[in-house]
Amino acid sequence: QAANQEPAKQTEKNTLDQIKEKGVIVAGLDDTFAPMGYRDESNKLVGFDIDMGEEMAKRLGVKIQWQPTQWDGIIMALDSKRFDIILSGMTVTEERKKSINFSVPYVGDGQIMVVKKGTTGFNTAADLKGKVVGTQAGSSGEEAVKKVEGIKEVKLYKTYPEAFTDLQIGRIPVVVCDRITASHYISKRADTYEIVGEKITDEPLAIGLRKSDPELKEAIDNVLNEMKKDGTLTKISMKWFNR
Ligand code: ARG
Repeated sequence: QAANQEPAKQTEKNTLDQIKEKGVIVAGLDDTFAPMGYRDESNKLVGFDIDMGEEMAKRLGVKIQWQPTQWDGIIMALDSKRFDIILSGMTVTEERKKSINFSVPYVGDGQIMVVKKGTTGFNTAADLKGKVVGTQAGSSGEEAVKKVEGIKEVKLYKTYPEAFTDLQIGRIPVVVCDRITASHYISKRADTYEIVGEKITDEPLAIGLRKSDPELKEAIDNVLNEMKKDGTLTKISMKWFNR
């Protein structure tokens, strides 16, 4: 009886269903962004985002696969479905909200200035005037310094390690980056680097999602809220940020 036959399914399954079916969620990240996601001495991927992502995936009932990607262009890569989410210390910005969605924020951060230890003359963002300033291409740091009047040159780096090397060898006098990252470099090299002044911006970090995936956003938000409530996020935060 034809009437009992299932009609051919035309609609594609939503991303959440596809992830559950495959048993894998793929996360795009810049794997040079310590201490969120980076390589340790044995080239193992470690960091706050890695621990959080593994736990989140577990609670979604799937495995997580990490897809390293250059930061500048990570939104385009999400759009072209090279991965399902961006999990890489990404700041929620108005500009980005025009093209992608964000999960609930999972950590508070902000841009700050880092100089070579002992450098004077940097107290507020206005002191960047007339200076060459290093930051990561496509970052909220780039956005923040572009708002400061009279900067001599904004030097854009593909990764923060490259910017910190240039700071160390004196090629640039100041780096603007996430406070969380700045603290990490200083904890490793307190003899070399120094944070100066107050945060230039306040920025929540969240997971980036395609606007076409509201089901996935809801599932991820639920898990993140659970992890906030039961103390899991605090535990991961203590491990990586000591706070
Ligand atoms: N939080 C800043 C931003 O969203 C810097 C992020 C850099 N992240 C990274 N994984 N490289 O732009």
